[in-house]
Amino acid sequence: MMRRLWLAVAAVFALVSPAFAEDMPTFVKQGDRFALMVDGKPFFMMAAQLHNSSAWPAQLDKAWPAALALSPNVVQAPVYWEQFEPRSGVYDTTNVDALIAKARATHVRLTLLWFGTWKNGEMHYVPEWMQSDRKTYPRMLNERGEPVSVLSPNVRTNVEADKRAFTALMRHLKKVDGDQHTVIVVQVENEPGAIGSVRDFGAEAQSQFNGAVPQAVLDKLSLKPGTWREVFGPDADEAFGAWSTAHYINEVAAAGKAVYPLPLYVNTWLRYKDKKYPGIDYPSGGATFNVFDIWRSVSPAVDFIGTDIYTSDAGEYRKVLDQYARPDNPSWVSETGFDANTASFLYYVLDRGGVGFSTFGVDNDPASEAHLAAAKAHGDNYKLLAPIQDLLGQALLDKRVKASVEEPGRGRQALDFGDWRVDLSYGPPPWGELPAIVPNSKDGLGRALVIQLDATTYLISGVDVRFEFKRVAKDGLYGRLARVEEGAYDNGVWKPTRWLNGDETDYGINFRKEQKLLRVTLGTY
Ligand code: DGJ
Repeated sequence: MMRRLWLAVAAVFALVSPAFAEDMPTFVKQGDRFALMVDGKPFFMMAAQLHNSSAWPAQLDKAWPAALALSPNVVQAPVYWEQFEPRSGVYDTTNVDALIAKARATHVRLTLLWFGTWKNGEMHYVPEWMQSDRKTYPRMLNERGEPVSVLSPNVRTNVEADKRAFTALMRHLKKVDGDQHTVIVVQVENEPGAIGSVRDFGAEAQSQFNGAVPQAVLDKLSLKPGTWREVFGPDADEAFGAWSTAHYINEVAAAGKAVYPLPLYVNTWLRYKDKKYPGIDYPSGGATFNVFDIWRSVSPAVDFIGTDIYTSDAGEYRKVLDQYARPDNPSWVSETGFDANTASFLYYVLDRGGVGFSTFGVDNDPASEAHLAAAKAHGDNYKLLAPIQDLLGQALLDKRVKASVEEPGRGRQALDFGDWRVDLSYGPPPWGELPAIVPNSKDGLGRALVIQLDATTYLISGVDVRFEFKRVAKDGLYGRLARVEEGAYDNGVWKPTRWLNGDETDYGINFRKEQKLLRVTLGTY
C-alpha cells in the first residue's frame, strides 16, 4: 500500500517537474575521460556560435534561425561587459535575459561567453568608464613603457572589477535560470592574453616578475625554485605572462563559481606551427600548448580549456587536438571556421572522446552559397547525432566510440576494437573490389564513426567510406556480418527499416554522401 502511494506521488512529481530542470550541470572525470553532465547525463555539445555583435535583443530574430538551421543542441552567444555594466556597479541584464528567453523558446541550451577583460588579446569589451580611467584601471605596459590595449593582469583593481561583474552575471543566472539550467556552461573571457606585449612591464608586474616562481608551477613542471628568469631563462617573459593571465582568470572563475557553480572554460587563440612570437603572432599569456602546464597549475576553477581552430589543414587540426586532449583536459573545439570543409573535423573530437564542437559565425549571410553549404555540412552531422545524443554521450565517456577523418594520402585507415578491426577506405567504388591503391575521395571530406553497443553490435556511419569488419582475435574463429540493419532511433529505441545484404554488403559496407546510421551485428564461424 505504502509502495503504491509512493509511486503515485513520484509519478505526479515527474509530471509537474519540467524535463530540463533536473540536476545542476557538472563537469566530471571518469578514468582519463571527461564529460559535461546535463540533466544527469553525459552531454556532447554540438554548438553553433553567433557573431560577436549578434547578441543584442534586436538581432536575435535574425541570428537565431540561422543558428537553428544547423540543428545544434547548444547556441553560444556573448555577454558584453561594456553592456552588462554600463556604470560601475550598475548591471543591465536585458541582453542576457533575451538570450535565455530565445533559447528556452526554441529548446536549445545556451553557452554564454563572458567578453570581459579579454577579447582576442585586447580589451575592447571593457566598459568605457574603465577604459578612460587608466589611473585606476592600469593597462599593460610594453618593454618600452608604452600602454597597450590590454588591462594589466597584475594589478588588483582590474581583477577585482572583473570579478565583481562576472559574479553579478553568475548571481543573475542563478536567480533566473537556477531551476531550469538553460545555460549549461560559461566561457570566462575570450581568447585571453596580450597582443602588443609579451607581458606587463609595469611596476607591479615587474616586482612580481623579480620574485620566486610559485610552488604550484614548479610542482606541475617538476622544476627547481628560482625567479622567473632563473627558472625559465629566455622563455621567462611568456611564462610569467601565462601565469599572470591564468591566475587572474582563475580568480574571476572561482568568484563566479562561488555564487553559482556552473562548469566554466577558457578558449584559446592558438600558436600554430609557423607562429612563434608571443604578443605578435598570438596573444601572449593565453593557454597555448607551450605554456599549457603553467596554465593548468594555476587554474583549478577553470574546468577545461578549448581550442579555437581556424585551419582547414587536416593534419594540423589533428595535431592541435592531440596537444589539448590530455589527462587534465578534454578535447573541445570551442570555435572553428563556419565552412563546409571543417565539418568532418567534428569526427576528430569524437575519436578523442571529447566534450563538444562549435562552429563560429553561423549567422553571417544566410542567403549566400558558402553559408548554405556550411550550414548543410555541419547540420548533416548534428542531425545524424541528435537522435542518439544520450547514447553517444555515454559511449564517449565509456570509451566505446572511435572515429576517423579522411586526410590527403591517408585513404586507408583502421579502427581497433580488440577482437575486431574496422578497415576503412575513403573514396572506394560504390561496390566491387577495391583498387590496389585507394585514391582518396573526390573532395577529401570523408569520415567514419563507430559506436560499440556491445561486444558484437556496432552503430556505424560515414561519408564516402567503405567499412570492412575483420576479426583479428587469435582464437581460430572467423568473422562474418551476421546482420546489417538500416534504421533510426525513435525515443531511444532502434527501429530497423530494412536489412542490407547481397551487393550492399558483399564488398564492404559503403557510405556515400547521405549520412545515416547502420546497426551491424557481427558473428563468427
Ligand atoms: C576568434 C574569436 O574568439 C571570435 O570571437 C571571433 O573574433 C573570431 N576569432 C573571428 O574569426
